[in-house]
Amino acid sequence: MAVRTSFPSSRPSLASDAPIGIFDSGIGGLTVAHAMAQAMPAERMLYFGDTAHMPYGDRSAELVRSYSTRIARFLVEEGCKAVVIACNSASATAKRAVQEAVGPEIPVIDVVAPVVEDLVRRGVEHVGIIGTRATIGSGIYGQSLREAHAREGLKGLRVEEWATPLLAPLIEEGWQDHELMDPVIRSYLGAAGWLDGASCALDALVLGCTHYPMAEQAVRRVVGPDVELVDGPAIVAKAVQATMADGDLMASPEYSLAHGHGFMVSDLTENFARSAHRFFGREIPLVAGGPWFMA
Ligand code: DGL
Repeated sequence: MAVRTSFPSSRPSLASDAPIGIFDSGIGGLTVAHAMAQAMPAERMLYFGDTAHMPYGDRSAELVRSYSTRIARFLVEEGCKAVVIACNSASATAKRAVQEAVGPEIPVIDVVAPVVEDLVRRGVEHVGIIGTRATIGSGIYGQSLREAHAREGLKGLRVEEWATPLLAPLIEEGWQDHELMDPVIRSYLGAAGWLDGASCALDALVLGCTHYPMAEQAVRRVVGPDVELVDGPAIVAKAVQATMADGDLMASPEYSLAHGHGFMVSDLTENFARSAHRFFGREIPLVAGGPWFMA
């Protein structure tokens, strides 16, 4: 029999003390959760990793939309005051569907728009993006950057996107510092036409998958010191903070500190339990549950 398991959380009386819901296909989105915890220590998060259905990056847009809307509804039923889509593949394909699913009262923040806004605000011209097949296939970064540049009357944008599907599984496996990482990254960036010997032609490289910040050092070794690696999680955390402030939704520290975060996955294996702390930067208690949970 299917049993829907809830987060072990209590409901606050103030809407602003409700947790922020955050989800990803798996544990990669914990890099965003970590940045949010750093930027907003008073906010409580309910994190959902859809480990039963990952990788989203190789799924059809329709399926990612259906998983994402179901998770977003679940988070709102659990009492969340906002939903953060901490997955580029879901942000690229399901943002509008998620907003429609939770209704206009709940702010939905994705991981693509804040990064695009940051690049446009700083006038960065030659931008490369790496990500999953779903993210790169959607063309979301290129399209959003071109539209924003046109809107702002900016010239000189060059944007190129390249799918790097092997990186997320390697990182998930804990191989972000393995000697195999550098040749794999070099091979992808070389095929994209961005490498010229030891130098890289880009001004900035967007790590367009929430797993990739874990491999920042390996990417840095390949691109050299002169290319900006765009810190997506920190930029997204700032956007979430601004949304909470604008909506008068900032939590009171007294409430949050007494309750803490919740971390749930749709399929809990020893491997996920072992890896999750690497992504969040400290031990976290993962529980199994969510809308598909079978007990
Ligand atoms: N974390 C996902 C993203 O940001 C990638 C992993 C997956 O393919 O599910 O796109």
